[in-house]
Amino acid sequence: MDYKVADLSLADYGRTEITLAEHEMPGLVAMRERYGKDKPLRGARVAGSLHMTIQTAVLIETLVDLGAEVRWASCNIFSTQDHAAAAVVVGRDGTPEDPQGVPVFAWKGESLQEYWWCTQQILDWGVVDGENVFANMILDDGGDATMLVHLGVEAEKKGEAPALDSAKSAEQRIVFEVLQASLAASKDRWTQVAAEIRGVTEETTTGVHRLYEMMREGSLLFPAINVNDSVTKSKFDNKYGCRHSLIDGINRATDVLIGGKVAVVCGYGDVGKGSAESLRGQGARVVVTEIDPICALQAAMDGYQVTTLDDVIGQADIIVTATGNRDVVTVEQMKQMKHQAIIANIGHFDNEIDMAGLEADGVASRKTVKPQVDVWTFPETQKSIIVLSEGRLTNLGNATGHPSFVMSNSFTNQVLAQIEIFTKPQDYPVGVYVLPKHLDEEVARLHLGALGVKLTTLSDDQAAYLGIPTSGPYKSDEYRY
Ligand code: NAI
Repeated sequence: MDYKVADLSLADYGRTEITLAEHEMPGLVAMRERYGKDKPLRGARVAGSLHMTIQTAVLIETLVDLGAEVRWASCNIFSTQDHAAAAVVVGRDGTPEDPQGVPVFAWKGESLQEYWWCTQQILDWGVVDGENVFANMILDDGGDATMLVHLGVEAEKKGEAPALDSAKSAEQRIVFEVLQASLAASKDRWTQVAAEIRGVTEETTTGVHRLYEMMREGSLLFPAINVNDSVTKSKFDNKYGCRHSLIDGINRATDVLIGGKVAVVCGYGDVGKGSAESLRGQGARVVVTEIDPICALQAAMDGYQVTTLDDVIGQADIIVTATGNRDVVTVEQMKQMKHQAIIANIGHFDNEIDMAGLEADGVASRKTVKPQVDVWTFPETQKSIIVLSEGRLTNLGNATGHPSFVMSNSFTNQVLAQIEIFTKPQDYPVGVYVLPKHLDEEVARLHLGALGVKLTTLSDDQAAYLGIPTSGPYKSDEYRY
């Protein structure tokens, strides 16, 4: 088995935590019980690109129990939990000397070159009986694996990879280098990969944006299920998950008292709502910035001051970006922040805070306090700011991401979405879909018992009155929760 992780001797620790997590993941355990015998994913070769955490380990082993073969990478250079990666490689029956699990290519603190190498490893399954074997399903978070396949196919169609000096960022340049190298090695590698892929199931808002964009342009190559917009994903993981893990990241990174401080949350979507509540729960005075009048009004009615970042930049003790947008905090704004103010991002990519601008020559000097915590000092004022996880998502870089119970909701949607696309390709021509509402309701149902929730049963008369079946779906697709 090929794999690359930090340290297989961490496997025991990882396995213990996986066992604890399974107890908190009733949705995934129910998937194993329901589908473990029939193995609907037999024949699936799943390339997973999603934070390699303990919760993800439970997802991976569920996919395996349902018959899939799996290869895994993380979708962020800082989010891997090395003990989780080790336990997945060693597997339930293996030892560090004789690993029997799933090939994982992920460790905490990858370079960007290593990150894109890992992403390639999950798509390429090597040569079996003289034939190249590739993944036939993608499980993506943020869309990097999907994007790599699409860029590869485009380059092969044109017969050339994009010029390195046309790259708009250091990371894009690395991707272009990957494309140049793969084109030099094979003229149709990515075309072969794309031809094999039956579909992708996408975890997060940012990846979903990319998919809809490709669909609009007509460049999408295979069907996709937008897992993010299952209600039991974005209204739970993005909101309640961040409510838990945002302050976990800030606390582990800085241990600064949050109560009484001015905290600014940029963006009041699902992640912003959870983040603002998280900071308010600690007693911070929370200010929200928004571009969307509906979300701005929601924030105001929830009791937050809503204003522009420029208005509060000089008073903020903590700034958190939660927009999925770029350049939300500029270098000029960072220079106006208070001495030792904290800046962190909880959105998917590191361009919400202008890290490239901050890192440019002569702008500021960097001192690393500990991994994923840096103090940046501006020479003209000698004022410093504390930047978490180099502008990458703080809850996974500085802490351990969302807890198991909420991820069980997200990942049960992932498993159902993988089964849908893999077993019913005829129902999913190229396009972007969400799971049907009865499955969304089912995911929620699977998590009620663990919380001691008792549901009220609709009577036949009541069901007729509302015009809905007694067993659901209970809401129209337009309902917004
Ligand atoms: P969303 O679309 O619900 O919310 C984003 C909000 O930001 C929107 O209301 C939008 O109007 C606002 N916004 C956009 N540009 C802005 C600007 N310049 N200033 C102020 N507000 C602005 O998206 P969601 O689901 O909240 O996700 C946000 C990001 O977080 C995405 O990148 C997503 O992939 C990521 N995410 C991260 C998680 C984590 O664990 N760290 C979990 C789930 C999602």
